[in-house]
Amino acid sequence: MTLFKAALGFWVGVLVAVSAPAQSSFFKDADYPLGEKLIAENRCVACHVSKVGGNGNAIYKPQGRINTSALLRGMVEQCNTELNLGMFPEEVNSVAAVLNRDHYKFK
Ligand code: HEC
Repeated sequence: MTLFKAALGFWVGVLVAVSAPAQSSFFKDADYPLGEKLIAENRCVACHVSKVGGNGNAIYKPQGRINTSALLRGMVEQCNTELNLGMFPEEVNSVAAVLNRDHYKFK
């Protein structure tokens, strides 16, 4: 039985590894569920919607001046400071990683 569980665990791990979308190594330590939670909690989208309308996604401009992972993380850090959000560096990293996965898609 334990052998069965170990084997099952192994294959589930392989499946997760294979099905996970390729992520930029820049964000390799990111905690995606944490990033999603922080984006929801900090009303990022609500404010962006009030600026650009729709679902707010138009605020994210991958072809704009934010055109690398480093600049994206820097931008989130800047918002963090300006809006006094009090996020820790690993939280900023996770938020930026979610934005990259869903919008910017930098390598
Ligand atoms: C009080 C309003 C407000 C809040 C809250 C806010 N933003 Fe923004 N954000 C803006 C505005 C306005 C811009 C456009 C600035 C510009 O184009 O110069 C922007 C731009 C951005 C950009 C750059 C878009 C691009 O590609 O140029 C990112 C990334 C971003 N916000 C992330 C966040 C995140 C993450 C949060 C929550 C943690 C957040 N913002 C919360 C108002 C807000």
